[in-house]
Amino acid sequence: MNRPTDPHKMTQASTPVGTHPGYMPGFGNDFETEALPGALPQGMNSPQRCNYGLYGEQLSGTAFTANPPERTWCYRIRPSVKHSHRYEKIDLPYWKSAPCVDPDVISLGQYRWNPVPHSDEGLTWLTGMRTMTTAGDVNTQTGMASHIYLVTESMVDDYFYSADSELLVVPQEGRLRFATEMGIIDLEPKEIAILPRGLLYRVEVLEGPARGFVCENYGQKFELPGRGPIGANCMANPRDFKAPVAAFEDREVPSTVTIKWCGQFHRTRIGHSPLDVVAWHGNYTPYKYDLRTYCPVGAILFDHPDPSIFTVLTAPSGQPGTANIDFVLFRDRWMVAEDTFRPPWYHKNIMSELMGNIYGQYDAKPQGFIPGGMSLHNMMIPHGPDKEAFEKASNSNLGPDKLENTMSFMFETRFPQHLTAFAATEAPLQDDYIDCWSDIEKKFDGSPGKK
Ligand SMILES: [Fe+2]
Repeated sequence: MNRPTDPHKMTQASTPVGTHPGYMPGFGNDFETEALPGALPQGMNSPQRCNYGLYGEQLSGTAFTANPPERTWCYRIRPSVKHSHRYEKIDLPYWKSAPCVDPDVISLGQYRWNPVPHSDEGLTWLTGMRTMTTAGDVNTQTGMASHIYLVTESMVDDYFYSADSELLVVPQEGRLRFATEMGIIDLEPKEIAILPRGLLYRVEVLEGPARGFVCENYGQKFELPGRGPIGANCMANPRDFKAPVAAFEDREVPSTVTIKWCGQFHRTRIGHSPLDVVAWHGNYTPYKYDLRTYCPVGAILFDHPDPSIFTVLTAPSGQPGTANIDFVLFRDRWMVAEDTFRPPWYHKNIMSELMGNIYGQYDAKPQGFIPGGMSLHNMMIPHGPDKEAFEKASNSNLGPDKLENTMSFMFETRFPQHLTAFAATEAPLQDDYIDCWSDIEKKFDGSPGKK
């Protein structure tokens, strides 16, 4: 029943990669998809006997009584309980979870890093994850962690899921394939992917080396922000989010599954591929999004709005209007405001801001914040344009000006972010970052009419 030419059949990266079976458009839709005709029950979820001898199983991402509930019904070759055996703890020393407060590390301050270089050692999605900051508490499902991934090797007969978190993946270099229970997502720079809590997958290198950023969300799932007075269009549009169609493997081969659970890693051994979902329906899915489809809105007469207008996705906290995490995109756009200091103003903020550069040059920091690099402006720590950006923005003629060759993002959280020992001592921290503000001089002149 699983024909070799079937485009829904997965292949490992070690074999030629076939045609991608496709995606379904829409954010949070109640999708349905089947890799074999008739595999998906119609009109009910749990028939007495499923077609093809499949097992029906529900994956719930919210409590049953959430409104709306987020869940997906999977019809698979074996139930997930067969993809799990006895567990042994394993150590992934560079993947940290909150709370992770190192008494020898100072997190208070303004920090910036050059790109973390690739290692001579072969690294997979699991061994190549490098935690930079943590916030909140993984055990209470609040907060987040930020990571850099450095991946040069595919996972082979090795699978992973995080019970702790939803992962937002932001590639900066290379191409990856996420072969998941619900289908295949291929990902490259200028795209993002979301891998929901509990979703099992394998990560393969399509083009390496691969480097990028991950926001590990311990809390409520990412959703589209309310647009308020902006109305029904612009920003991220639902149709530009893509969920994979069903694809499955039927392979009997010794395999391992690694599970992240309450900040610890556990491994179990099984005798087959667990990517065996032949059909599924529901609204709890992985998905990808092309950042080039984000439609920014901004000032069209004067002043500079808050960066919340650039929110792609938001993960709510229990406090309305206050995000556990906002994912914010700074992409190419026109600047037209009159008599306005156009870059971000100087500020300090209760939210903590971790930024990454995907490509190009960021307008408030023309130097030093380079592709693959990151910066952190922690809770209530002042920051803003450097001297060069301030002088240019204060003295240039303000005609319409297009910011081009630029794509940066921010993981912004209501919680303070703590640096890991890796971020403070091993990653390429720019010790002189604070000096970018040191030559800003006092310009004050009390004379009447001085500007
Ligand atoms: Fe800021």
